[in-house]
Amino acid sequence: MLDQLDTLERQALASLESAQDDEALQRWKIAHLGRNSPLMKIFDQLGSLPKEERPPVGRRANQVKGALEAAFEAKNEALRQATLQQALQTERLDVSLPGRPPVLGRLHPNTITLRMIYRVLGDMGFQVFRSREVESDDYNFGLLNMPPHHPARDMWDTFHTTTPGVLLRTHTSPGQIHVMRLYAPEPIRVILPGMCYRYEQVSARKETQFNQVEGLAIGRHITMADLKGTLVDFSRRMFNQDVHIRFRASHFPFTEPSAEVDIECYLCGGKGCGVCAGSGWLEILGCGMVHPVVLRNGGYDPYKFSGFAFGIGPERVAMLRHRIEDIRYFWVNDMRFLEQF
Ligand code: DAH
Repeated sequence: MLDQLDTLERQALASLESAQDDEALQRWKIAHLGRNSPLMKIFDQLGSLPKEERPPVGRRANQVKGALEAAFEAKNEALRQATLQQALQTERLDVSLPGRPPVLGRLHPNTITLRMIYRVLGDMGFQVFRSREVESDDYNFGLLNMPPHHPARDMWDTFHTTTPGVLLRTHTSPGQIHVMRLYAPEPIRVILPGMCYRYEQVSARKETQFNQVEGLAIGRHITMADLKGTLVDFSRRMFNQDVHIRFRASHFPFTEPSAEVDIECYLCGGKGCGVCAGSGWLEILGCGMVHPVVLRNGGYDPYKFSGFAFGIGPERVAMLRHRIEDIRYFWVNDMRFLEQF
């Protein structure tokens, strides 16, 4: 039995050599020190040995057990160290490296332009008034002097909802009615910024969603000269003091008379090029004197009150100021574009 213990020890220690990971090590422990291991069987048989053989066999068995346990601990520790060393090698961390600077967020070019518009018009006494993006047919068209089936509605390709009479506003002009109904008969000087939606064929100049900034001034004795002065001053402060602008007669059902304001093309300086379609001018807004019907719908007596309104396309303004050639850049979330501002 003593020989058996020697062999057993030798074999166990030899097979421990080949255990290379934790799993193999645990398997080895069960095989050689576990309940059913040959060594434990010998302990079980001790009682049935002749009396004089028990002490030497018992002592030797305990020695072997101690030796195997020690070898197991040593191997376990060695494996642990090896794993640690490997981790230290592969996950090396140099705490002396300087930290990475955090990436600073920035404002969207549209936000920058909108804030500039707010500042310029705010200096002239216009306050920001928020109005809804989901509108009724009545506010978007009817109350703006475009009754159902009026052909002028074709100027706005509209996203209708499945609820009859509810649509995504095609312009910020319905806000005029909201603000007038809230303040009539007080004088008004507001701007109404926000998203508008149109069922457009998307192109370099047209998007299905875009911002507008509506302006509205209502009071007594407001004339076209006030409109012109406001918009000339606005353009000079948005672009530069020498910018060339022109008022071009136009038509909107909610203003009379109506005009559009063009800015001299930034690319060709007015000579005519691809960006301005050869005209030398780029349109930035529509405007006019508030139509008497609209004044009345807002709760003002058109015999006593008058007013002017305008609708600016801030994306257009941003494109002009930063020479952006494609309106689609604004909403595709391309960092290469956004990081330039
Ligand atoms: N709502 C017009 C549009 O989206 C723009 C506009 C034109 C607004 C004339 C006005 C205005 O307030 O007076 O095309």
